[in-house]
Amino acid sequence: MSSTSHIDQLLAEAGSALKSAATVSEVGEINIRYLGRKGKLPEILKSLKELPADQRKSVGAAANKAKGKLGALVAERLGQLDESPVSNLDYTLPGQSNRIGRPHVLSATMAEMTAVFTRMGFATATGPEVETDQYNFGSLNFPEDHPARDMQDTFYLRQCDGLPAGLLLRTHTSNVQIREFEKRTPPLKIIAPGKVFRHEAVSTRAYCVFHQIEGFQVGENVTLGDLKGVLLAFCREFFSTDVKLRFRPSFFPFTEPSAEVDMSCLLCDGAGCLLCKYDGWLEILGCGMIDPNVMQAVGYDPEKLSGYAFGMGVERVTMLKRRITDIRLFYENDLRFLRQF
Ligand code: DAH
Repeated sequence: MSSTSHIDQLLAEAGSALKSAATVSEVGEINIRYLGRKGKLPEILKSLKELPADQRKSVGAAANKAKGKLGALVAERLGQLDESPVSNLDYTLPGQSNRIGRPHVLSATMAEMTAVFTRMGFATATGPEVETDQYNFGSLNFPEDHPARDMQDTFYLRQCDGLPAGLLLRTHTSNVQIREFEKRTPPLKIIAPGKVFRHEAVSTRAYCVFHQIEGFQVGENVTLGDLKGVLLAFCREFFSTDVKLRFRPSFFPFTEPSAEVDMSCLLCDGAGCLLCKYDGWLEILGCGMIDPNVMQAVGYDPEKLSGYAFGMGVERVTMLKRRITDIRLFYENDLRFLRQF
């Protein structure tokens, strides 16, 4: 039976439920329970007619008053809950940025170098890092007893688990020359970026793994002048300054004539400084005109075709461009180093 004391009790009950409600949706539920269409207070109003006539007026008035009060309490609680997340948040604090990864400085430099060569009309090819003696040395005109085949320089794979004998980790990207020559008919103009391996004493300038970009062009009337032009254009574009190049006679079994190329020092422009060890020049690559023996071995006619090839060290070029003084930094994964690029 409804009575004014029952209404007071409902109001007190709803009031304490509201106080302990922690979320807006909890307040919504309480609102429905007491004030909704089938809520406790509206139900009392609906059943007034069942009350003795002398009680109807007082109970009806109390229920209406309670409805009003409770409505105000609900609104107040909603206001408090709605405010709390806003007041806890300081929009003036500096934000926290997410740490996201980035390409390794060597990958980024290799991509930059590839982009320059691509603009100069070179296609890109890759070759295997595990290679046969034939592709790494034999077809490139290395004699059987050439010192580069020595165990000191080359990592040979132990023969096991059905692996063919005589596999090695390629010591240079020149293997891709042979693999591409066998697949294609000239004219061709290709670069081959990739990883190479050498069993060398580790130092500030040498590491057991490093990267090279091989480049080669074969066609009719490809000349040493073309090679010089390509290398000079590449260096000026890549280093963004008017460097000079110096071709020093050298020897590689797969090129004749062969040269090593020095670039005028980026820092002192040839005057002599710490970077170039007071020489004025920095060595950046090996190159030459492809040896007729190499052409013949892949079925190209050296009487009709000619070509040049070059191979440059990616670590070397990256160290010069970014002023890095120790090659080992590339491989130590020290975030203080890597985050600088
Ligand atoms: N393969 C040589 C090396 O790793 C570099 C090289 C020299 C590549 C002359 C060439 C070249 O293509 O023509 O030392």
